Amino acid sequence: MSDYQTGFGNHFATEAVPGSLPVGRNSPQRPAYGLYAEQFSTSAFTAPRDENRRSWFYRMRPMTAHGPFEPLSRTSSPTGNAPVTPNRLRWDPMAFPSEPTDFIDGLIAYGENGDIGTGAGIGVYLYVANISMEHRAFQDSDGELLIVPQQGALRIDTEMGRMDVPPGHIALIPRGLRFRVAVDGPSRGYVCENYGSPFRLPDLGPIGANGLANPRDFETPVVWFEDVEESHEIVQKFQGNLWRTTLDHSPFDVVAWHGNTAPCRYDLARFNTINTVSFDHPDPSIFTVLTSPSEIPGTANCDFVIFPPRWMVAEDTFRPPWFHRNVMSEFMGLVHGAYDAKEGGGFLPGGASLHNQMNGHGPDAATTRRAMEATLAPHKIEDTLAFMFESRWVIRPTQAALSAPTLQDDYDECWRDFPKARLPQ
Ligand SMILES: [Fe+2]
Repeated sequence: MSDYQTGFGNHFATEAVPGSLPVGRNSPQRPAYGLYAEQFSTSAFTAPRDENRRSWFYRMRPMTAHGPFEPLSRTSSPTGNAPVTPNRLRWDPMAFPSEPTDFIDGLIAYGENGDIGTGAGIGVYLYVANISMEHRAFQDSDGELLIVPQQGALRIDTEMGRMDVPPGHIALIPRGLRFRVAVDGPSRGYVCENYGSPFRLPDLGPIGANGLANPRDFETPVVWFEDVEESHEIVQKFQGNLWRTTLDHSPFDVVAWHGNTAPCRYDLARFNTINTVSFDHPDPSIFTVLTSPSEIPGTANCDFVIFPPRWMVAEDTFRPPWFHRNVMSEFMGLVHGAYDAKEGGGFLPGGASLHNQMNGHGPDAATTRRAMEATLAPHKIEDTLAFMFESRWVIRPTQAALSAPTLQDDYDECWRDFPKARLPQ
């Protein structure tokens, strides 16, 4: 059974064995039961207090107990020499593999921006998996992972606890935390690897104290551990490449922990969607769930934005997303249903699209025609859950993504056949 503590970035404390969590000090000379104390930091030690993130683990063996890492032959690195294209791109969903494929092997890089080395930008992946990771754990030293399942519930076991993450939920795994993913049948989804500052809740400004994603709806697992004396492979992503080493025991041996850097899950159905009740509609930033700020105020390293079910009530308003281009670059996915800017089809659950900086996009011709002719009454968009990884940096598609058979060669066609405006003669 999974069990959760609620809140975002709280200072949690949890122990699996009574008395295993020290009181009053972080690193006692002899922790209870011969446990080892270990600090896990995802900010610099000297980060300001409200941005400082660290947790203390009390585990059966120090995590240092392993041999050298060696390169893993297969690499999921998004780094490559693919040309950066200004073209709008769209992909059909990835097919499920016929071979046994776990989460690590099924992780396919679609794009990257910024720079791993300087800790800016994101990597964007899709995954397909049909088997669970067995005696295998993953550690991403390059970034925090935001996992968006599209099909198939994930069971994510981490050093700090276990989470059930079905489609419609997201999971957030801190940079460097070890975890493994169990699947229940063919599974597919999306991953944003955040090289920059950790995701946090956006400020709400004039919205006030409530709304969008509320802190108490984020769920962090209570501690869980296993005592398994069997060989485990540890796969580490480090500066764009995968490395491996082995442990002679399970890495999931943390018996107690406390602190404010921790994995969590969030049910996107709990997002309090806010929008216009008069005319026009606000910029899509009104749908921001989490944000990773950059050093430029309001110009995110990455925003995670969703387009959930919601009422459309605006008067005298073109209700779908408008045509636009802007400085941000946008990678989109669809968890289920249809996206209200692409009623003409082609953007399928499990599919993806990329609209890079200053390249025009918006509703397709079919959507535009319908929206301009519609009789405007309140109506609810029910079956939809699209999302966006939006970033200040141009997203460079990988060679794998550009040569994928799922890449559509006719995406631009969805913006053909707009009737020309008729000016007075
Ligand atoms: Fe856009």
